[in-house]
Amino acid sequence: MSENVAVIGVGHSKFGMRKDVSIPELAWEAIKPALKSANVEQKDIDFFVVGNAGMWSSEAAIPALMAEYADLAPKGSMRVEAACATGNAAIRVAYTAIQSGEADVVLVLGIEKMQESPNPNVIELIGRFGSYFWEFENFGLTFPGYYALHATAYMAKYGATEEDFAKIAVKNHYYGAKNPLAQFQKEIDVETALKSPYVAWPFKLFDCSPITDGSACIILASEEVAKEVDDKIWLISQGVGTGTANLSRREEFTSLASARYAAEIAYRKAGIDVDAPYKHLDGANVHDCFTAAEVIAYEDLRFAKPGEGVQLIRDEQTYIGGRIPVNIDGGLKAKGHPIGATGVSQAVEAYKQLLSKAEPGRQADIKNGRWLAHNVGGTGHYTYITIYGLDKK
Ligand code: COA
Repeated sequence: MSENVAVIGVGHSKFGMRKDVSIPELAWEAIKPALKSANVEQKDIDFFVVGNAGMWSSEAAIPALMAEYADLAPKGSMRVEAACATGNAAIRVAYTAIQSGEADVVLVLGIEKMQESPNPNVIELIGRFGSYFWEFENFGLTFPGYYALHATAYMAKYGATEEDFAKIAVKNHYYGAKNPLAQFQKEIDVETALKSPYVAWPFKLFDCSPITDGSACIILASEEVAKEVDDKIWLISQGVGTGTANLSRREEFTSLASARYAAEIAYRKAGIDVDAPYKHLDGANVHDCFTAAEVIAYEDLRFAKPGEGVQLIRDEQTYIGGRIPVNIDGGLKAKGHPIGATGVSQAVEAYKQLLSKAEPGRQADIKNGRWLAHNVGGTGHYTYITIYGLDKK
């Protein structure tokens, strides 16, 4: 058993349209550097977990494919799915396996090759992550529409505007431009975002995360193994929440109940003040699948009070130097959102930021040694929140 679990190595592919590689090649792009940075070999891995939603891609048996291609056989494996929170859910399986004493070293791969199907099919398949019978089949809701319902509720209640949401896109593209692994490495201005075509009002093209191919990998290890490794971060705590499938069963649209619940658990376990957590954190990655979702996340994570999240972006408080830097790797908006890889990519970013290995212009000041990752599946159908740290607890 090991109460304390560390991330001892990371790897990350280039995100984007990856027609140049097969699924195993894309996985290896992240696995190879992860093994190297952890200074372990395949024989040292006790178990591996693959986060992959996968309905849009050719291969379904990714763990077996990886066992063969990455030489991980005959070690045990598991494929995990929790909609867009798949990556962080995969991390949870590895974390609890090490805590329980089942394994000492676990490899977590998040991978998605969404561009193997045409976009309309992918958008339709993502739509099934909500309530299929009531919302997808009867009303034809897809994810831009789902999140637009939350955005319009927020606008009506708190007076946020399309321009406010555009500012989230501007920030995330600003940092994405500094991340060589991001899908979009181009800065934009508010006008560009506002002029882009509507997808589902109030969302335009630049309010949406794209459809992405990509992979990310981390190696988790028990304290016994981790003590031999210099470059590591610790997994301090996790909180997990689940929401209703059917949106009409929810009382609140300007907040995700699963995220508020998961945040509270993660903060309490980490000994972080639930009322002002930003004072204990150096930065965060939040699930900005749509721009308004980032604003709602500020409030669910208590970076701001209800209704005041929008002021954080108006005042540029989530840039480096502000109250708390958020998505300074480009976020889902600019870095891309390969569904199964996103939560693992957030862990890679926590590792890079806490160890001050991020690229110039996007390195946060590390004072508290704590970083938060917020990974949402569906519209709050699942939320996984993980807090990483430079020291144990
Ligand atoms: N932001 C900025 N530019 C984007 C973009 C995005 N999100 N998505 C695509 N583009 C660009 C492409 O690079 C391309 O540019 P080019 O013509 O210069 O090459 C152009 O827009 C058209 O790309 P295409 O892939 O044909 O877009 P599309 O219209 O088929 O799809 C969306 C665009 C926004 C509808 C689609 O990406 C989408 O549904 N995103 C949301 C995905 C989602 O729901 N994820 C789960 C969230 S929980």
